[in-house]
Amino acid sequence: MKNFDKAVKILKRKIDSSDTALILGSGLGKLVDEMKNKKEISYSRIPGFAKSRVKGHSGKIVSGEILSRKIIVLAGRIHFYEGHPMAKIVYMIDVLSALGVKKLIVTNAGGAIRKEYKVPSLVLIKDHINFMGVNPLRGKPDFIDLTDAYDAEYRKSILKIAAKKGIKLNTGVYLALSGPSYETKAEIRMFRKFGADIVGMSTVPEVIAAKKNGMRVVGISCITNYACGVTPQPLSHKEVLVSGKKASAAFIKLIKAILSSKKF
Ligand code: HPA
Repeated sequence: MKNFDKAVKILKRKIDSSDTALILGSGLGKLVDEMKNKKEISYSRIPGFAKSRVKGHSGKIVSGEILSRKIIVLAGRIHFYEGHPMAKIVYMIDVLSALGVKKLIVTNAGGAIRKEYKVPSLVLIKDHINFMGVNPLRGKPDFIDLTDAYDAEYRKSILKIAAKKGIKLNTGVYLALSGPSYETKAEIRMFRKFGADIVGMSTVPEVIAAKKNGMRVVGISCITNYACGVTPQPLSHKEVLVSGKKASAAFIKLIKAILSSKKF
């Protein structure tokens, strides 16, 4: 049996199925504590899955319920900057699709290019710019339409849901880089001119892979810092994790509001 089929078989046995999956970004792992009827399996026990080596990313798939809604959570993403090939990231999304996932919420920690964003705060991603230098589907020529990569209908309803619940939610364009170094001031000035509002090192591979699988996608950035040069303060991964934790309550509130809505 191929790794892929083995992975699907193991996951079907070890966790519950759901049409909805959530990928957790740096420092947002606390959501897993809020889940009920949890079943989990570590990435290291799933054939073909890579292990996440980044602090703040635990590396397991957890099924369970949030406000009675069944969901599969990827707690611990793997990143291109860790040295994993893009194919490993696409593989995880393909496995989720084979498990019946049709809706994907992708979250991340991001740096604010826009001065108006607060740190920490939440931004609903409306579009992305792939500046990672590679397309995750390279080698599997699939001409995927990305017109509404971040589902327009969901975006509209999520903004309404957030407003109703009093959760401050901006919208913005996410620009992804390969990392792992942060950007330079000159790069951030250039990205601002490109129309980018947030900068980060993830999300784009998962979103493109999800669209290949016909999933509907929601993207949420947790603003953990101002991008390089936006303020004089230097950047650190520690700050990203601390801000992620600070934003945790609002983030969990937003995810709960989305999952309890009939519009999602
Ligand atoms: N740049 C790139 N990635 C990030 C940042 C940033 O400022 N903050 C969190 N992830």
